[in-house]
Order: sequence, then C-alpha cells, then structure tokens
Amino acid sequence: MSQLTTSEIAGSPSATLAALINGFMASQVVHVAAKLGVADLLADGAKTAETLAGQADAHAPSLHRLLRALASLGLLEEVEPARFALTALGAQLRTAVPGSLRNRALLFGGDRSWRCWGELLHSVRTGETQMQHLYGMGSFEYLTEHPGQAEIFNEAMAEGTRQVTRAVVTAYDFSRFRMLVDVGGGNGTLIAAILAATPKLRGIVFDLPSGNAGAPRQLEAAGVAERCDVIEGDFFRSVPPSADAYVLKAIIHDWDDERSIAIFKNCRRAISADGKLLLVERVMPVKVEASQSHRQMAMVDIHMLVLAGGRERTVAEYQALFAAAGFELTRFLPLPEVAGISLIEAAPV
Ligand SMILES: C[S@@+](CC[C@H](N)C(=O)[O-])C[C@H]1O[C@@H](n2cnc3c(N)ncnc32)[C@H](O)[C@@H]1O
Repeated sequence: MSQLTTSEIAGSPSATLAALINGFMASQVVHVAAKLGVADLLADGAKTAETLAGQADAHAPSLHRLLRALASLGLLEEVEPARFALTALGAQLRTAVPGSLRNRALLFGGDRSWRCWGELLHSVRTGETQMQHLYGMGSFEYLTEHPGQAEIFNEAMAEGTRQVTRAVVTAYDFSRFRMLVDVGGGNGTLIAAILAATPKLRGIVFDLPSGNAGAPRQLEAAGVAERCDVIEGDFFRSVPPSADAYVLKAIIHDWDDERSIAIFKNCRRAISADGKLLLVERVMPVKVEASQSHRQMAMVDIHMLVLAGGRERTVAEYQALFAAAGFELTRFLPLPEVAGISLIEAAPV
C-alpha cells in the first residue's frame, strides 16, 4: 500500500476541506438509496445488488456501486463480498420506523431542493429565492400544486418534529391552558404529542389544506382526535380565535420580517388576554462557531434563503418581531435534548 500524502491524512485541513467540497455526493447517494427503498428491501437481511436490482428497479452493477458507497458512509455493512446488510444508521432510512428520516432524504435530495441549492450563487448575489427565480412561485404555492410533493414535505416535517416532541412536553407545562392552536401545524405531530401528555387540553391543527391533510389520521393514531379539530385556513388572513395558547413550530423561520409580523399580528388579534404565544424554532447564536449544532443552524438558514425566503433569527431578532406585533418575550427555553432548538414564550402587551 502506498504512503498517505499529507492531504489525505484524516483531519488535516485539506482532507477536511475536500470532504466539505464533496459533501453533495453523500447527500445524493443517501437520497437515491431512499428513493429506491434500499433500506426497506434490506430490512429482512443482507442481500447482493443482483438480488435487490429487480425489486429496486435498478441496474445491478450500478446498484452494487451505490451499495458500496452506502457502506463507505456507514449506512450499510458489506458482511461478505458483495452482500450488504443494514446498519443502525441505515435502518433510519426505513419507512415509518421510529426515528425514520426517509422522507427527509427524499425531500432534501429531491429535484426541487437540489435545483434551488444549485443556484445558491444567484440567491447570494441578489437575495432572491430560487423558488421565485426558477419556479416563479413560493414554496407553499408549489406544494399546493404538487400534492405528491406536499405529502413528502409534510412527512419530512413530521419526522423532524418527532425528534423534539418529548423535549417540548418535558420543558413546558401545557396543563395551564384550555385551548391550544398549532398554527401551521402540518400533520399534527406536535399537537398530538402535547395533547397526549396533557389530558384536559383541547386543540386545533390549523394549516393550509395541503399542509394538514394527514392530520386526522395522525390525531386518530395518537388517540387524541376527539380533543382536536383540524381547520383549514391561511394564517396571513386570520387564525382561529380565542385560544389561550398558540404554538408555531418552524413557521416564522419560513418568512421574512414583514410576513412574520403579519402572522404574529393575526395571532395577537386572536389570542385571549392571558394567552401565550409559543415558538419552537432554531435560535441563531449571536456568534457562530464551527460546531455541529451551529452548522445545522447555518445550513438551514441557507435553505431558507434559497427556498422559502425566511431566515434563522437570534433572540434579539425574535424580540423585535414580537414588539412590532404587540407581544413581548416572557421566557426563553433552549431544549437541552435537541441542540439549537428553543421554545420561546411571548405574551400580549
Ligand atoms: C416548515 S412547515 C412546519 C410544519 C409543522 N409546524 C412542523 O414543525 O412539523 C410549515 C407549515 O406552514 C404551513 N403554511 C404555510 N403557509 C401557510 C399559510 N399561509 N397558512 C397556514 N399554514 C401555512 C405549511 O403548510 C406547513 O405545514
């Protein structure tokens, strides 16, 4: 075996930079594995590409190369020559298992996201989102027009939300409220967990029809359907009135300041005098460092730049939005189990 050059030594600046430059390759390999259903097909044991190719509708020799790439990333293990088994990491690409991220892989490596990121330079030069530049419409208009994509998006959001529900219900006492509206609540994953943990609370999942279509099924599965209504609507017009708690998870980061204030103002009009507005969002640190959680935050911020037109914000930036809409920040609770994500409580003033 030849000697490693300095630039190949793991951890050297060149090796680290090369890995970052090549990062898109791993992303697309994982996406294609999700698309072909590789993890589901390997759920019952190790297989060769020859065996999988028919079920996965793939070209066997090329599939073998994909499986090898997945093994190099730690999602598969080559248990004997040319036979690949799922690892614990790869098992998270299975459909509908606890902790599954299959829809996330489908969404982020999928055509729309891929094209938008491919034009990042244009967004950085102009500030324009790629949804406007390439598709001539906003992200949620696109999802309304593409129900199949909306289903993947909603499931991907729910996969992310499942990772924070326990931290949210542990960190915050919802039992003091009588009615909670989940504004832009998607398929109801968050509110289902909150209602399950708070037996006397009632709720509403409020979203566009493309967003909350899967909510009845989700609420039913969680055993909370009789305490939760599913209401379709547009939060730029109004939100359901008179509740004493409004939760918005991953909503404000989708929008620029003007649109965010418009959403908050509609919540302000609707909320009861003693109510609370609760945000569950990534909160941008004042100073960014080279850490895993800051990287995740900064990359989602860029995703917002190219797709939705929103941004990740600091606490001070959230305070300014609250002030513009008649709220004040009353509590800031970083969720310890999910680095970077916080619960922010505000009250009407
Ligand atoms: C990033 S997702 C977050 C979903 C959910 N809160 C979660 O964290 O899993 C944003 C949600 O906002 C909804 N949304 C977007 N525009 C909306 C509008 N004008 N009125 C109501 N909901 C809207 C979308 O349909 C989607 O469900």
